[in-house]
Amino acid sequence: MPSLYRIELSLNGNLFGWTAYADRKTLRVVGMAYVTLKGGKIRGELSLQGSKNAALPILAASVLCRGEVKLTHCPDITDVRDMLSILSCFRVPWSFSGGELLLDPAKAQQKKVPAELMKKTRGGILFLGALLGRFSEAELSTPGGCSIGKRPINFHLELLRSMGVQVTEQEELSAKGRPAGAEFTLPYASVGATENAILAAVCADGVTVIRRAAKEPEILELCAFLRKAGAKIENEGLGQITVEGVPALHGAEHRLSGDRIAAGTYLTAAMMTGGSLTLFDPGGISIPEMLPTFSKTGMLLEKTKETIILRESHEIKPVGEMTTAPFPAFPTDMQSQMLSYLSLASGDSSVTETVFESRFAVLPELNQMGAFLTLTEKGVYVRGSCRFRGTTVYAKDLRGGAALLLAGLAAEDETTVYGFEYIARGYENICQTLTSLGASAILKEEKT
Ligand code: EPU
Repeated sequence: MPSLYRIELSLNGNLFGWTAYADRKTLRVVGMAYVTLKGGKIRGELSLQGSKNAALPILAASVLCRGEVKLTHCPDITDVRDMLSILSCFRVPWSFSGGELLLDPAKAQQKKVPAELMKKTRGGILFLGALLGRFSEAELSTPGGCSIGKRPINFHLELLRSMGVQVTEQEELSAKGRPAGAEFTLPYASVGATENAILAAVCADGVTVIRRAAKEPEILELCAFLRKAGAKIENEGLGQITVEGVPALHGAEHRLSGDRIAAGTYLTAAMMTGGSLTLFDPGGISIPEMLPTFSKTGMLLEKTKETIILRESHEIKPVGEMTTAPFPAFPTDMQSQMLSYLSLASGDSSVTETVFESRFAVLPELNQMGAFLTLTEKGVYVRGSCRFRGTTVYAKDLRGGAALLLAGLAAEDETTVYGFEYIARGYENICQTLTSLGASAILKEEKT
């Protein structure tokens, strides 16, 4: 009979606690959700979920609005739910059903966000700029999110200081002062720091110029939303953004774009199982940053205005060398999935990760499933022609979890993936989706 243990882990200052049963061979975490997965050709049509990384900054931006905000095609994922819990903390009423999210931030109040709420999502840090823009004050704590690197927030704090805001960072994060327009150059094109800079600048006094700004599509989408709400922003997407402060923002309506990382994940799933897939989104699907790498691997893709069609193909080709980097280069958020995908290629590949220094927690799990992945100085060497076998594995972050599901789809027998909580942060109804496309993915929870 296994014994009951309490396990506490501290990662990057975040404390995780679980109750677990353990004996010499197994560790089962009580209350941990897991998926049992059987492969099958992934094929059919899929309406693409809304974008997680566009939804999160826009939810933070809603705090700046003095009228109703309506977001449609919003993904129902735990990262979005956690941002909504933070908005509840600011007394923002909301309703969310069928992808339609209505928020009424007109009477929002500045309140301290409990640390345990902030630990749940990385997106929480984006409230810093938005709260300062609305209330000239913010009290948060350092954000959580996936443990894929050190993920400091020094750029966020430095840029706010250059806008005249007083920031103190001890156990809690406290910021005070009305942001004033400023010109600064980010040390690195950080997505989150660029978003916080824009959020602090839209209602600041004067003009702000952000140099070496991130160019990700989610930045453009945040700016599109803010402009609908009355903000004055120019040149986003060019690496230097100019924001002219306005006194206040009004309400706005916005349809979120399709999630490009979910698109990449489902396309690789279909390839890995010898299937075919039509991805559909009435807003159009745009993944130009992945197409050169995908076509090198032999994906046969056709694009129309609203769809991406993947034709059946019987060989995944190796890529030689590939590197993740900020947009428009290949996204780090597809790196883990590529490790599964390229393991099935007909030759070896080398994947360099330049964005997050330790986004490799999935390696031992994939190796246990039959992959041959070796950590190199800059990334991972992937030996091709592997055969995945089903076993029990543990997701330790969102995209690593997706990579394990992909390997499970291609495995000969049943796979159990623990840590579904990570996967649920970013993929909407992934078990139902995979099952509707030809696999069997059943979500369960470990009970005492
Ligand atoms: N960085 C710093 N200091 C800072 C900010 C960032 O050193 O103040 C470093 C980070 O440690 C990292 C690099 O800069 O090494 C890039 O980080 P960035 O700020 O661009 O990432 P982020 O804003 O924390 C967002 C996405 C991530 C995505 C990255 C890169 C959201 C909520 N998260 O994170 O998404 O990987 O941009 O594109 O938008 C995911 O969806 O799985 C995910 C992790």
